[in-house]
Amino acid sequence: MPSNKIETILDCIADGVFTVDNEFRITSFNKAAERITGFTRKEAVGQFCFEIFRTDVCFVKCPLKESIKTGKEITNLELSILDKNNREIPVSVSTSVLKDKKGKIIGGVETFRDLSLIKEMDKEIKEKYTFNDIVSRNKKIREIFNILPDVAKSDVAVLIVGESGTGKELFANAIHHLSNRKNGPFIKINCGAIPETLLESELFGYKKGAFTDAKKDKAGRFQLAQGGTILLDEIGDLPKSLQVKLLRVLETKEFEPLGSTISEKADVRILSSTNRPLEELVEDGKFREDLYYRLNVIKIEIPPLRERKEDIPILIDHFIEKFNRKMRKNIKGVTAEAMEILLNHSYPGNVREMENILEHGFILSKGSYIDRSHLPLYLQKIKKSKIVAPKINLKQWEAEIIKNVIKKHNGNLTKAAKELGIHRTTLWRKLKRI
Ligand SMILES: Nc1ncnc2c1ncn2[C@@H]1O[C@H](COP(=O)(O)OP(=O)(O)OP(=O)(O)O)[C@@H](O)[C@H]1O
Ligand SMILES: [Mg+2]
Repeated sequence: MPSNKIETILDCIADGVFTVDNEFRITSFNKAAERITGFTRKEAVGQFCFEIFRTDVCFVKCPLKESIKTGKEITNLELSILDKNNREIPVSVSTSVLKDKKGKIIGGVETFRDLSLIKEMDKEIKEKYTFNDIVSRNKKIREIFNILPDVAKSDVAVLIVGESGTGKELFANAIHHLSNRKNGPFIKINCGAIPETLLESELFGYKKGAFTDAKKDKAGRFQLAQGGTILLDEIGDLPKSLQVKLLRVLETKEFEPLGSTISEKADVRILSSTNRPLEELVEDGKFREDLYYRLNVIKIEIPPLRERKEDIPILIDHFIEKFNRKMRKNIKGVTAEAMEILLNHSYPGNVREMENILEHGFILSKGSYIDRSHLPLYLQKIKKSKIVAPKINLKQWEAEIIKNVIKKHNGNLTKAAKELGIHRTTLWRKLKRI
């Protein structure tokens, strides 16, 4: 084919395409490549590719070099380039070799797609539904997001209620960081994990000589939390003897360390959390009613994950991003089959369980996706017939599907629209509304 004809064809392609000779000098550069990089064909042709297509791996692990060396194609590698104005642009890159009629390698070809739109979309969705590191699109939780800044500033006691792993500590943290005490300490104590005999000194400290082993003064958590916030976790496990003492702190802002006759001031904001219904403990006489009302000035109730399935996809994205950063991997998502299982699971361990499931997937997956086989065995056992359509709002479901299909096609909207069975302009419109 004459070279000007090839050029015309390449110019019709939406992806950027350039070719190089064996010296890595650019020999052709299509229109889309001009648009994405900002360099004109005239500026590009004849230059070394690393002077024009400036990726973050040029001198570390150049995929084009790899292809020319091995003769193998590399597909959909996610990289960043610097365009002519030194703006960073995320791209998906594929490379392969160019051969002459005799099969001798005479150079390479690189195609690349601008991923700015998908990245932008991901970021927008994430930002829209993230509040102080808490991710949710659930209505009840978003109502909590709305009141949280005012609650935080008010300095009143807050009781955070929710099943294990729903994020109670995360909310407590957010309250502290949104409050005027944010520069003070945030101290946590699990009232259920410390034996009753030690709990009092853990909370309020002791004075030298208070008991035989008390060789010197020891500060309790209330002293450590001075000027800041304390989170009393598993407050339902607080023994009755200590309930009286805590009530006194709440009423008078004072307490006495063990073995001391002098009261100390407690300039501490008190948050408490529980996964057991405190009302029942009050009814059974195990929890003081007056203390319950003091702790419960404001109650925050976090629904379990099984009641907010709409949060599953966005939490998956959140943890994938977190583990990619932590484990220096580049996992792009979960496969459709894995997603179905994850959407159908009931998560008795709530968000913590989901986080563990994804961590498991990260360790086992060697590719770009987490598949069914990378999930813990107890999830893989779910029969296909048991999987039912998840009960989530249609619009949110649609947004998830659209996002996943666009990701699958590496940002190629034409292909994504085709798979979705809608027109490209309809897809654009829908994207704007996500
Ligand atoms: N909405 C959320 N967005 C992001 N991460 C979350 C969310 N909810 C929980 N997590 C994460 O899940 C894990 C468990 O959360 P957390 O420790 O706050 O739960 P908890 O309710 O205090 O659990 P437990 O009852 O066992 O003490 C943490 O790693 C937390 O960061
Ligand atoms: Mg907790």
